[in-house]
Amino acid sequence: MQYRELGSTGWDVSTVSLGTWALGGSWGDVDDSESLKALQHAVEVGVNFFDTADVYGDGHSEQLLAPLYREHADIRVATKAGRRLDPHTADGYNRENLTAFVDRSLENLDREALDLLQLHCPPTEVYYRPEVFDVLDDLKAQGKIRHYGVSVEKVEEALKAIEYPGVETVQIIFNMFRQRPAERFFEAAQARNVGVIVRVPLASGLLTGKYTAEATFPENDHRNFNRNGEAFDQGETFAGVGLETGIRAVHELEEVCPGDMTMAQFALRWILMFDAVSCVIPGAKRPDQVAENVAAADQPPLSDDTMAAVRDIYDRTVREQVHHRW
Ligand SMILES: NC(=O)c1ccc[n+]([C@@H]2O[C@H](COP(=O)([O-])OP(=O)(O)OC[C@H]3O[C@@H](n4cnc5c(N)ncnc54)[C@H](OP(=O)(O)O)[C@@H]3O)[C@@H](O)[C@H]2O)c1
Repeated sequence: MQYRELGSTGWDVSTVSLGTWALGGSWGDVDDSESLKALQHAVEVGVNFFDTADVYGDGHSEQLLAPLYREHADIRVATKAGRRLDPHTADGYNRENLTAFVDRSLENLDREALDLLQLHCPPTEVYYRPEVFDVLDDLKAQGKIRHYGVSVEKVEEALKAIEYPGVETVQIIFNMFRQRPAERFFEAAQARNVGVIVRVPLASGLLTGKYTAEATFPENDHRNFNRNGEAFDQGETFAGVGLETGIRAVHELEEVCPGDMTMAQFALRWILMFDAVSCVIPGAKRPDQVAENVAAADQPPLSDDTMAAVRDIYDRTVREQVHHRW
């Protein structure tokens, strides 16, 4: 495993960390005993950073992490707040609600302080309300959270968020099918020493190359019910790329994938080629997926030719569908 600094938090986090949305739900049925094995395996192979949220399985993902946390004092858990709001409005991001969300996460995770609290893709207007960040500063002063950051949908939101001095991390979608953050945001994040947590690194599994155009997904899987953004931002499902277009692009990527890497490893190693990235948080429900993904951390750098080829495939295939949107 390799480790990188997570902005100004003072933590060295595993470059391949773990996202735990799938352990809570919205990805078809999950088996808790497999999930726990996946978490244990991750720790065994050096993963020390886990991403969750209070809404993943309505707190179930956080609760699954609690025993791991008790057993391993050195791991860090990042959670998120805001998506319990219904309706999900900027006004809901107030002192009373944020405090209640934090208290509930503390209980789910069985902690006295949250390592890292991220606002969970709030409405854009929240980034223009300094009072929301004042509340986060106060929660920090009270000792309920140790650090805070944001999880954003758009590059513009990320750029706005890092104007607040207390924001230490930004979680953003960045992958072979979502390349704009490297153009506009990474330099600004590095200049301010903000940690960058990359989510959806495998484009919801699409970049692993395992799907065909005939792929179907269970009713309780967002890759079925959110293809067109019916439940939440479309960009969270397959990184906003249409399945057919994505599969065609993956076939081209397979042609340039180094022979000793799987497609999942190639996709993760490509992201880690960018120094501004602190870590990737691929979702994985089973120990074998964790093992395959973690191995990407120790792969050698990709060549300039390979990087250029990936950029070219992006420009010719998926760019038109995503570049101007996020
Ligand atoms: N708004 C937000 O803040 C937000 C939104 C989305 C995600 N996230 C965070 O980011 C994390 C990662 O994003 P994500 O889970 O949406 O997408 P992702 O990491 O791009 O894709 C995860 C899915 O890919 C498949 N997969 C993983 N490793 C694999 C392997 N080695 N071989 C084959 N298939 C593999 C698994 O699906 P199957 O097992 O079903 O095939 C897995 O559930 C989440 O868990 C969550 O913590 C945050």
